[in-house]
Amino acid sequence: MKNRTVIITGGNDGIGYQTALELARMGAAIVMVCRNEQKAQAAVESIRTATGNNSVQYALADLSSQKAIRRVGEEIHGRVAKIDVLINNAGGAFSGFELSEDGLEMTIATNHFAYFLLTGLLLDLLKKSGEGRIINVSSDSHYRGKMNFDSFRSGKNYFLGRAYAQSKLANVLFTFELAERLKKDSIDVNCLNPGFVKTRIGNKAGKWASYGWSLITLFAISREAGAQTSVYLASSPQVKGVTGKYFNKGKPQMANPLAYDAALRKKLWDVSEKYSGGVYPD
Ligand SMILES: NC(=O)c1ccc[n+]([C@@H]2O[C@H](COP(=O)([O-])OP(=O)(O)OC[C@H]3O[C@@H](n4cnc5c(N)ncnc54)[C@H](OP(=O)(O)O)[C@@H]3O)[C@@H](O)[C@H]2O)c1
Repeated sequence: MKNRTVIITGGNDGIGYQTALELARMGAAIVMVCRNEQKAQAAVESIRTATGNNSVQYALADLSSQKAIRRVGEEIHGRVAKIDVLINNAGGAFSGFELSEDGLEMTIATNHFAYFLLTGLLLDLLKKSGEGRIINVSSDSHYRGKMNFDSFRSGKNYFLGRAYAQSKLANVLFTFELAERLKKDSIDVNCLNPGFVKTRIGNKAGKWASYGWSLITLFAISREAGAQTSVYLASSPQVKGVTGKYFNKGKPQMANPLAYDAALRKKLWDVSEKYSGGVYPD
């Protein structure tokens, strides 16, 4: 990964931290996009110390905010000349209905709109790579997902599991649509399931969700194991030219049949363009 520039969201914790660490070990220059400066600084320090790679930096943005995403998009343009790998990894779960400052339900705002908007803002830099890769961290929960576009702005019948599964299905729909649109640009776009990983994602979702998460993750895999497919998709020559796939345990597999519905993909794309103020050229 020498001379490769990687942008990774949510690189200060969990799967994202481990992914950044391993790619830094391989020699990549890394910018991790994080929302908390103290945690970002600590993660950068720890990765630099562990790997001896000083080309690890952070940029700050709360990815539930489109204003913050647009600002960090500009900041990244000032810092790097090209992007070889963009890993949309940051995500969360919310036990109650909340609206983002853009009037979007928080799960879909953080887990889908941030992927959609940041990727659109950084596309010119990815094109400069000549062999860019976009990796969207989804989840096997997407198999339980259904798209309910009304829920993007309404709390009617809100339930954490439903909102999370929908957002992870949106990751797959977005990946497949973007892969089609970028075929002519030699940018590979794939998504993945990291597995059931012992991170703190569920501990950030409120008290009751946190109790439940601590119990069930007794049986989860380590974050080292959880980062493997992200690292593979970011670095392996074996997947150069492979695009529009859902990966699990390092192998492509069939996604939820809904993800192959071209009309649904187009609808999500159009709604995402509308609610993010337009970012992709026609
Ligand atoms: N853990 C699993 O079993 C599992 C399974 C399937 C898929 N996934 C997916 O894997 C990805 C990483 O999750 P994880 O389990 O590693 O969780 P995690 O340990 O909580 O890490 C999530 C990262 O995203 C960041 N983040 C969350 N909301 C953000 C926001 N609004 N702005 C900026 N950064 C934000 C977090 O920052 P803070 O440290 O500040 O919170 C953290 O760095 C997610 O997309 C998740 O959906 C996880």
